[in-house]
Amino acid sequence: MEQEQYTQVKSSIKKLFNIDLEYYKDEQMKRRLDSWLVRSQKPSWSDYLHFVSASPEEQVRFRDYLTINVTEFFRDPDRWNTLRSEVMPDLLRQSPKGLRVWSAGCSIGVEAYTLAILLDEIAPNQPHYLLATDIDRGALAKARARGPYNNDEIRNLTPMQRQKHLDMGTTHTIKPATASRITFKEQDLFKDRFENQFDLIVCRNVVIYFTNEAKALLYEKFTAALRPGGVLFLGGTEIIPRPNEIGLKNFAISFYKKIG
Ligand SMILES: C[S@@+](CC[C@H](N)C(=O)[O-])C[C@H]1O[C@@H](n2cnc3c(N)ncnc32)[C@H](O)[C@@H]1O
Repeated sequence: MEQEQYTQVKSSIKKLFNIDLEYYKDEQMKRRLDSWLVRSQKPSWSDYLHFVSASPEEQVRFRDYLTINVTEFFRDPDRWNTLRSEVMPDLLRQSPKGLRVWSAGCSIGVEAYTLAILLDEIAPNQPHYLLATDIDRGALAKARARGPYNNDEIRNLTPMQRQKHLDMGTTHTIKPATASRITFKEQDLFKDRFENQFDLIVCRNVVIYFTNEAKALLYEKFTAALRPGGVLFLGGTEIIPRPNEIGLKNFAISFYKKIG
């Protein structure tokens, strides 16, 4: 896609969905848009944009595609083991009355449900606050509906976890008691206000699509939203270049602590 065309498409997407693609990497996003146009079988972007503006169903599909919401329970199990055995015990010692935890970019909810399952296993009696946010309304609707989730998405759950937290069928939903611990909210990480004093912010596999400037901005905002000693948990390939410049210290792969 030519730059001029991309500028036009970006501006239509902003008008239609209120999503600002300025924060996303150009080349990656152009490739995604090109392949979407091929799949749509429309001859040009102006045809496609005309079609999508008139079809609410297509708007949901296109928005889902743009925001890329692939996910699964306990995604990267090794990192979740570190969270369970090294990070959580420390956080629970510092905040014995319960943790404030935020899943930022929670997609269809499984990351937030993973956190609820983990907290149920290691600190079931405290009234934790679990916030889960995403820009994608369709993904949030599925999160709030507690699924359904497929076999791939639940593959890392143990038989005991399945028994306690899932209603199993041909697809699987989260039990209401597990779901009741989470507050889901629609939020754009670039436009909307953040809550604060979090013990733990989990933002995994979200910033990979953002420009370096957008990532830097976001990391500073996350740091401000943590309490001193609070932890930011990122995705496997996401590294903050000079964390101490923004008041963070890297203490394990994917984990950063707010200094102070
Ligand atoms: C690949 S999913 C990651 C889901 C989950 N964190 C995980 O690791 O399994 C990326 C999510 O980021 C969300 N996202 C993308 N841009 C966003 C923005 N500006 N504000 C909030 N969420 C955003 C997408 O809607 C999508 O659900």
